[in-house]
Amino acid sequence: MAETLSVPPEENSEQSFASGVSDDAIPAGASAMDSAENVSAKLKDVSSERRKRVVSGMRPTGPLHIGHFFGALSNWLKLQEEYDCYFFVADWHALTTHYADTSLVAQNTMEVATDWLSVGVDPEKAKVFIQSSVPEHAELHLLLSMITPLGWLERVPTYKEQIENLRDKDLGTYGFLGYPLLQTADIVIYDADFVPVGEDQVPHVELSREVVRRFNFMFGLRWKSRGFEWAINDGDALRILTALPLTEASGGQGESSIKYLQAIGQVGIENFRQKLGEERFNRYFDEKLILVAPGHLLTETPRLTGTDGRRMAKSYGNAIWLKDSVEEIRAKAKNMMTDPARVRRTDPGNPDVCPVFSYHKLFSDAGTIDLVNRDCRTAAIGCVDCKRMMADGLIRWIAPVQARRRQYEANPARVWEILDAGSKTARETAQQTMARVRNAVFHWDDARRKASDPATEFASTQPLAGAELTDVTAPAAKPPETTKSKPKGTSLPAEGK
Ligand code: TRP
Ligand code: SF4
Repeated sequence: MAETLSVPPEENSEQSFASGVSDDAIPAGASAMDSAENVSAKLKDVSSERRKRVVSGMRPTGPLHIGHFFGALSNWLKLQEEYDCYFFVADWHALTTHYADTSLVAQNTMEVATDWLSVGVDPEKAKVFIQSSVPEHAELHLLLSMITPLGWLERVPTYKEQIENLRDKDLGTYGFLGYPLLQTADIVIYDADFVPVGEDQVPHVELSREVVRRFNFMFGLRWKSRGFEWAINDGDALRILTALPLTEASGGQGESSIKYLQAIGQVGIENFRQKLGEERFNRYFDEKLILVAPGHLLTETPRLTGTDGRRMAKSYGNAIWLKDSVEEIRAKAKNMMTDPARVRRTDPGNPDVCPVFSYHKLFSDAGTIDLVNRDCRTAAIGCVDCKRMMADGLIRWIAPVQARRRQYEANPARVWEILDAGSKTARETAQQTMARVRNAVFHWDDARRKASDPATEFASTQPLAGAELTDVTAPAAKPPETTKSKPKGTSLPAEGK
């Protein structure tokens, strides 16, 4: 059950860090502040050296069973060897559906974390932490929520379905609608390269890519300081105009530099860049990559059969828990469903339809698997013996997991130490991202530089003030509206000065 396919993140995401380096001179007085440009440049250095980063979370649902192991954790164990992994307990996500009863969240967080550590998730290799211990996830979620059209969330395939499926809960809440966006924040706050996902979660990662693209456009594209003026002087204004759904009349005067940016949003930055040509684009525009669009690692998530032959699930009472005692495992094995057609000891059986055999394939050695596969079909082996052999294998397999568990159970404070240390480390990365994001949204750095040197000119810092919520990824249906109110307190060098 290895990852079967890896989809790279946005092709140009890394090199866009480089294009974020502005050639506008940074005034001497600004060196104390980490400007967005500097941060981008640094990020590039780091990103070219660092291991690719993977983020994954799990809700604190309580103790984990062997289905969780083969569905997700076995993959985490491989990922932590190869990637810079961020694994977190998604306690806020638990609230999106279970807000009515939070009494078990803390205890379940402990259960989940203890199971992770027991199976071999290694805090020396991966950051293991609690989502709500890194409140920056929530801050980024808030900022993303400002630019995300409601329709994008309502159209997430699982949304309506889940509301139907979980009829006993009122999921008509703001939090539940926004949960894919919270998940986006979880991922992009670490500049993740990849998210491991099953087929059903792919639309969530796709949404996060769309949101990132929109956010980067909203807060990352600006005219260079004097770029608009240069374009006019160089005779390129018309060239720009024809690459956009603007007419000369609508694009000619006044607040036009902002209108251009809005129009670029309508056709898409990439389309526009191509039409205008890389060189001209870079001469007049400044594009900063603020957030990185993640790729996904498609992971095969085999549905493990429970002891009754149905899918293993807590609610069916058919699970084998990672913390089950040897006695419990033997008892559950003994009661397992077998090939229903094999009624008497003398009836030949079919291992291919028998849940016990599917467990043999996971836990037994090759010799035992071959023996069962042969002797079941001729009734040379009985189910009682077969199940005992399977239980032997399962118990052998689970022994090291339980040995580690006993250590953590003897010292639960150690689990909290690991979670707190992991949260602290993760938070440092999250804080760096948020410094960059806040600056991109509010331009604190420009404001501070301006305060120390009022004569300095800056890029147009409010590219989309007053912009309508239009679907920037869709082709332009009509030319953009005129900006209703002119942004105040911003200097747009080319405009009537
Ligand atoms: N949505 C996942 C679940 O329901 C948990 C999760 C939250 C997650 N944030 C994530 C998974 C980010 C991967 C990446 O279990
Ligand atoms: Fe299943 Fe084993 Fe019985 Fe065959 S012998 S039906 S594989 S339990």
